[in-house]
Amino acid sequence: MFADRRRRVLDSIRGAAIVVAAPVSIRNNDVEQEYRQDSDMQYLTGFDEPESVLVLSKVHPEHRSVLFVRPRDREREQWDGARAGVEGAVAAYGLDAAFPLSELRKRLPEYLAGAEELVYELGKSSEVDAHVLSAITQLRARGRSVKPWPRTIIHPDSVWHELRLVKDAHELERMRRAATISSDAHRAAMAVAAPGRFEYEVDATLRDVFRRNGALREAYAPIVGSGPNATVLHYRENRRQMQDGELLLIDAGCEFDYYAADITRTFPVNGTFSAAQRAVYEAVLTSQLAAIDEVRPGSTIERVHEVALRVLVEGMVRVGLLVGAVDDLIAKESYKRFYMHRTSHWLGMDVHDVGSYFVGGVARPFVPGVVLTIEPGIYVSPDDVEAPAEFRGIGIRIEDDVLVTANGHEVLSAAAPKTVDDIERACRT
Ligand code: GLY
Ligand code: MN
Ligand code: MN
Repeated sequence: MFADRRRRVLDSIRGAAIVVAAPVSIRNNDVEQEYRQDSDMQYLTGFDEPESVLVLSKVHPEHRSVLFVRPRDREREQWDGARAGVEGAVAAYGLDAAFPLSELRKRLPEYLAGAEELVYELGKSSEVDAHVLSAITQLRARGRSVKPWPRTIIHPDSVWHELRLVKDAHELERMRRAATISSDAHRAAMAVAAPGRFEYEVDATLRDVFRRNGALREAYAPIVGSGPNATVLHYRENRRQMQDGELLLIDAGCEFDYYAADITRTFPVNGTFSAAQRAVYEAVLTSQLAAIDEVRPGSTIERVHEVALRVLVEGMVRVGLLVGAVDDLIAKESYKRFYMHRTSHWLGMDVHDVGSYFVGGVARPFVPGVVLTIEPGIYVSPDDVEAPAEFRGIGIRIEDDVLVTANGHEVLSAAAPKTVDDIERACRT
């Protein structure tokens, strides 16, 4: 599978490509942050060790795929765990050759000689940037007698990020697992939340369900925001004590074998929506369902956003948050006071996944295999004195992960309770 992806990349480039592993970063003193491989490196190799560089070359006489890696080291492996090393990289990862990373600088020119273009993301690793510049400088200095050297450096956006946007069966299996586990976690959170409990207790439940089901990481830091915290879009402190009568907004998804889920649910801490909470909730839900209905091949993220927005603004008028004609309120962007973000993003290995949103200046039409989120919300600031008092401090977002299929769509996160009745039932159990 990884070899096939590399072949597809090689088929689409004119020359060579380089992918660099994620750096190791220090948390504090001699403790490292949890390591996660760079998504591009993982996508093209499955190799999850740091300090590695993949070089793809159409111009080298023998090697198409070469990996530069950490060499075996008995003492380091005793402390940090096994390394594939040069031999293991070739044997287990289907590459044509492997070398110690320390040889990258010396060997890079032979993989770039003859390449007119190089696909490489400049600016991620100053060390590899320097090796690339040094290789190009050397090749250029050899003069007219030799082969071309890369005159163009191309960002991976137009190459393997395009491949990553459309998910294959192997990827969809993982995305389904991530979404199902995360849906279970949301259901468990509804059962655990109660007046007097702390946000971090619910956070612990989410992470517990993730881990117990084999998802070893969160796809992003969970947002567990009660009461006024639900109106803070990227709230992550998760330390407040929940009060009776409040809503709890949870935006949490796990990562299963490098694939993310991204789900938001909002529910009453005491298990029963108040009339005002319910009115706003239904406005968001109606918008979200209408937007999901727009997902099919040929539709676009712009179209989904337009539909979500129109139905949401209709809801804002219905409940009394806005006054006026829907068209005017949209044209004047009056809704931004309550809905200040977009409705969708691509989802995949990265929670905000790669893949361009516009192609040739127009919104990219959906094709089967792309996955996007649909996440409208209404957020009424606690100190918005112009908003009706019963709505102040209400923050509601509903977010699902939606796969485009040949005939329409599939909601990967459908198992997370979403209607008022289903949520109140899940809160009671
Ligand atoms: N959790 C990040 C997002 O919803 O985009
Ligand atoms: Mn999202
Ligand atoms: Mn989210």
